[in-house]
Amino acid sequence: MDKVNVGVIGLGQRGSGLSDTILALEDARIVAVSDVYADRREAISEKVNKVYGERPAAYADYHDLLADKKVDAVLITAGWEEHAKIAVEAMRAGKITAMEVGGAYDIEECWELVRTYEETKTPIMMMENCCYDRFELLATALARAGKFGEIVHCHGAYSHDLRDEILGGNVNRHYRLNNYMRRNCENYPTHELGPIAKILNINRGNRMLSLVSMASKAAGLKAFSLSDKNPDKSLAGKDFAQGDIVSTIIKCAGGETVTLTLDTTLPKYYSREFTVRGTKGLCNQELNMVLIEGEQSFHELFETQEVAEKFLNNAREYEEKYLHPIWKNITPEEKELGHGGMDYLMFREFFKTVKQGGELPVDVYDAASWMCISALTEQSIARGGAAVDIPDFTQGQWVKRPPKDVLDLG
Ligand SMILES: NC(=O)c1ccc[n+]([C@@H]2O[C@H](COP(=O)([O-])OP(=O)(O)OC[C@H]3O[C@@H](n4cnc5c(N)ncnc54)[C@H](O)[C@@H]3O)[C@@H](O)[C@H]2O)c1
Repeated sequence: MDKVNVGVIGLGQRGSGLSDTILALEDARIVAVSDVYADRREAISEKVNKVYGERPAAYADYHDLLADKKVDAVLITAGWEEHAKIAVEAMRAGKITAMEVGGAYDIEECWELVRTYEETKTPIMMMENCCYDRFELLATALARAGKFGEIVHCHGAYSHDLRDEILGGNVNRHYRLNNYMRRNCENYPTHELGPIAKILNINRGNRMLSLVSMASKAAGLKAFSLSDKNPDKSLAGKDFAQGDIVSTIIKCAGGETVTLTLDTTLPKYYSREFTVRGTKGLCNQELNMVLIEGEQSFHELFETQEVAEKFLNNAREYEEKYLHPIWKNITPEEKELGHGGMDYLMFREFFKTVKQGGELPVDVYDAASWMCISALTEQSIARGGAAVDIPDFTQGQWVKRPPKDVLDLG
């Protein structure tokens, strides 16, 4: 295979952005697109035409794209509700499946993904780009080098002020609005949980056993809807189901705890708060900080402004030895190709693996166990924070599956 022929299903914000990423890749070619909206099909087709001098096949019904013999692989960038269903059909149609991130609505959806993969063996990867971000890869390399000692606890968040995007859902035909009106859960766990699960070898010698989750009241969107920043006056004063802050604690078989925070409807800066804590040290993404016992003096930290300044951003000092070459060698142009470069790096690795053959780095068991957190937190929250079991989608194989990082970290 010289180039992987790709069909993109779902041509909203993400489908459009990732089309630019794929158009810049040597190993892939967009040959088909699908969206229910004609204007979106037309916009992406024209974009593809500008680069290749040839328009892709454009389908209103994604089943026609799945039946297109030219298509080797599909990228699913539809809304959360559609991912698992389309992925199952794509695997059944024999199309290598790249599925965007999102949470599940039901545990059965996750089992269906696993069963379909096991039956068809069609390669599938959940495109969790944060597994390829600079800090997460540095943290993983430090963990593999034993710098944190025994890992005890990890924390992550999806902290992203989406009030404008959510309330603009009717105007922009965006899927999030419906979800925030009707559901109350950790609706977007994988950006932080993905890299954490990789560090903790989840489904590969470790597994997530149970969780508890609590949601705060839902006040942020209503307050925003009454402000002059609200993009859709028909929503003014509307009540929402989704709590503003959702706090989840996961317990792992290895004894570790993982805390996740969903924080998307109150004023705040963007952060994934990625944190690893071990017996010898820690890293903290918000401060871009790595603290290793014996290498920095912890106790003087933050006693004075000068000390805080000394360690802020000190993760850079670890990069020369531990940062993966894909980040050391990234060009300014590549950094422009999605989320500071991580989208480009992940898709380049994905298509390289598809061409060469071999195991995809974020597999169906990862996808099922990360996605199920949304459905399970919904249950836990509805029961006042009750503990809920997390299924073992590997059906016991986790005890013997070997660890595998998204890249070879040496
Ligand atoms: N990894 C990341 O950093 C990242 C960033 C943004 C979005 N996303 C993910 O990408 C997905 C899409 O997000 P978005 O912001 O582009 O949403 P969006 O609502 O702008 O776009 C979704 C598109 O899918 C189309 N669609 C829905 N059902 C379809 C079907 N059955 N057939 C064909 N097209 C269909 C819709 O018409 C819409 O155009 C979400 O799952 C989101 O979680 C990931």
